Amino acid sequence: ANVYLVEKERTLAIVKPDGVSGNYTSSIRKIILDSGFNIQREVTLHLDEDSVRRFYAEHSTKSFYPRLVKYMTSGPVLIMILQKVNAIADWRALIGPTDAQKARMTHPDSIRAMCGEDIEQNCVHGSDSVESAAREISFFFTEPSPEGTTPEHDEL
Ligand code: TYD
Ligand code: MG
Repeated sequence: ANVYLVEKERTLAIVKPDGVSGNYTSSIRKIILDSGFNIQREVTLHLDEDSVRRFYAEHSTKSFYPRLVKYMTSGPVLIMILQKVNAIADWRALIGPTDAQKARMTHPDSIRAMCGEDIEQNCVHGSDSVESAAREISFFFTEPSPEGTTPEHDEL
């Protein structure tokens, strides 16, 4: 029989300032673990304006961008690398639609339905593709190089 190794995927999750200040981190952490994700790394940070602007650069021309920057800098956030087979799509499914008000109508069991306010204050983030996940993970976390491949060990 053929045996396949299914690569675990990684995604970036953020509990936004309203999620942290509303004390939703423990229920969100429970949902994450009960859904079979491994929390590979995590850090709590109070992001500055420049970091949020760069993180959300794709939205820089949108009318909501200044409010997004204000919201995301309004308090500490919990940033996590989640690991699991199909992590990116599965985490997006768990958080639900961007608009928390719509989420309460169409996806009442979603995380945004539970702790989000509206389309602007939606309490959680999830990477939307393999490319965004890679970019967003390296935005916040530096990876240790595998042993023996650090630049000082490489032949020039
Ligand atoms: P987007 O990437 O479209 O949504 P998602 O977080 O579901 O991937 O937008 C990024 C964030 O920008 C979103 O989580 C909240 C904010 N936002 C608004 O404030 N107003 C809007 O109309 C949209 C679309 C997003
Ligand atoms: Mg997005």
